[in-house]
Amino acid sequence: MDGQIQRKERRGIHEIVKAKARIVCLTAYTTSVARLLDPHVDMILVGDSVGMVVYGFDNTLSVTLDMMIAHGAAVMRGSSRAVVIVDLPYGTYEESPEQALRSASRVMQETGCSAVKLEGGAEMAPTVARLVKEGIPVVGHIGLMPQSIEKIGGFKVQGRDEAQAEKLKGDARAIAEAGAFAIIVEGTVEPVAKDITQSISIPTIGIGASVACDGQILVTDDILGLTGKSLRFVKRYAGLDEAISKAAENYAADVRARRFPGPEHCFQAK
Ligand code: KIV
Repeated sequence: MDGQIQRKERRGIHEIVKAKARIVCLTAYTTSVARLLDPHVDMILVGDSVGMVVYGFDNTLSVTLDMMIAHGAAVMRGSSRAVVIVDLPYGTYEESPEQALRSASRVMQETGCSAVKLEGGAEMAPTVARLVKEGIPVVGHIGLMPQSIEKIGGFKVQGRDEAQAEKLKGDARAIAEAGAFAIIVEGTVEPVAKDITQSISIPTIGIGASVACDGQILVTDDILGLTGKSLRFVKRYAGLDEAISKAAENYAADVRARRFPGPEHCFQAK
């Protein structure tokens, strides 16, 4: 029920589609971070990057549907305005449109989110069409697809040669025609991102895909300096790594020197 009340106040997906420009997205996995992002962003993605960022996995392949549902529900509880999208994790949708429908229905019902996201090009178009037909809004994800890193041989920029560029453009068209309302374009070069953005009517949301995309998304922990990574396509907006480390150092010094807790932190007897 809570989910339904929150959804009434939320921005509609139609507003995102209509904008087709300057769409602001970030990832969140927890209630507290969602609460902080919600006033500032159009969309919050509960990405399966949670596996690497929160659980310390080497890639996203070990993330389960139950994990995504738990984090999706947490983000919904912390947000009331942004459109919240939850990733379908590896192994929960690729087998068939029916498998995808079962997984996506659970995500929608158990989190109350606005839409699901799935990775894949033209080969996933029938699955996208099936979900959309059943009333489940879908965001596509093409280019560098983290769930396919084994297949593409690591985190490699896509679309640098003519054949790959043509494939990417075909993938974008197929996913848009299948009814996705937006598409994440990850890890490609500006001319390809530009061609894709100009050739489809739905918004493109780039990550490592240049300013040519309609909107941008980044992993929040990367921009806060919490993942210890220095990635070319990421801009750091805060140094929370240093702030957290300093806070822990100061706390440890206070406890060891008996400066904490002080009288102001203690309960008084009657
Ligand atoms: O899982 C994720 O966070 C993503 C974004 C990086 C686009 O898919």
